[in-house]
Amino acid sequence: MSAVHGPIIIGSERSEAGIPAAMEILRAGGSALDAVERGLRMCEDNLEDHYIGTSGLPNARGIVELDASIMVGSTRAFGAVAAIKNYPNPISIARKVMEELPQHALLVGEGAEAFAEYLGFSKAELLTPEAKKLWKDQLKTINSESIEGENTKATTGDERYRMASLELVKRMAPHEGPWGTINIIALDKSGELVCGVSTSGYPYKHPGRVGDSAVPGAGNYSDIRYGAAACTGRGELALRSGAARTIVENIRAGMSPEDACTAALLEAAALPDDFRAELRCLALTPDGRHGGASGMQGSTYTLMTEHSTGPEFHPRRPL
Ligand code: GLY
Repeated sequence: MSAVHGPIIIGSERSEAGIPAAMEILRAGGSALDAVERGLRMCEDNLEDHYIGTSGLPNARGIVELDASIMVGSTRAFGAVAAIKNYPNPISIARKVMEELPQHALLVGEGAEAFAEYLGFSKAELLTPEAKKLWKDQLKTINSESIEGENTKATTGDERYRMASLELVKRMAPHEGPWGTINIIALDKSGELVCGVSTSGYPYKHPGRVGDSAVPGAGNYSDIRYGAAACTGRGELALRSGAARTIVENIRAGMSPEDACTAALLEAAALPDDFRAELRCLALTPDGRHGGASGMQGSTYTLMTEHSTGPEFHPRRPL
């Protein structure tokens, strides 16, 4: 992949809901930090997306818990919130953790909610009627073949995960009754490289479960010297393999972004995991090279440069 000169932004599947607005910020000379936050907020507010923000799918108790993080390449400053309830824009709270609580990097649960309340963030009901219906239907059809919206087939690992989760649901009455994540990486005119990730995590997850999206080096990593990388998919595999940091280290060792992503996914794929499901990743370098890889055929990532008239879709290399 040849280098792109000037501002560039890339993101996972479904990031196209926010990437054009984020590129407007970069075109106007704004910061990568503002662009990533703006882009992910729009994705979090997209009610048609059930894997992030408002209308995200709930945990085993039927409650939506969100994870998000943001990382700045020049300083390796990092802010994150995890298992946060009732706040629709966790990416903005993650940014505030980074900027206003530099002695910390990650706040979870009640503590994250108290911080958001203190800063005056608005609360909202995140479980929309449509997401609630999807959740209830999913409980009825636990053996369904496809995970709607992720454009993929459930693996046997997904099935085992959902069966194990259903056991949790049964144990955790009362309850009411697919997964996904969005990440965006931006390079601005000043050369700053910022990576952000936001998710409602795995549906049916154990309450309090936190995936890779809120953990530096797992689902999110940015280092201005080499590159930034982010993951979507089975977060436990990205956590166990340190996937995002591995990708950046692979770039540091001289690999292209695509090769670096592929090598990291192969490393994760070698781990034993009864709940195996797909992992995807993408990376962007400070000189504008980009690439992605995926555990399945047909995956893409979204890209815009200053000259793009709209989101462009690039293939990820399948494993
Ligand atoms: N990759 C998102 C999650 O596992 O929660």
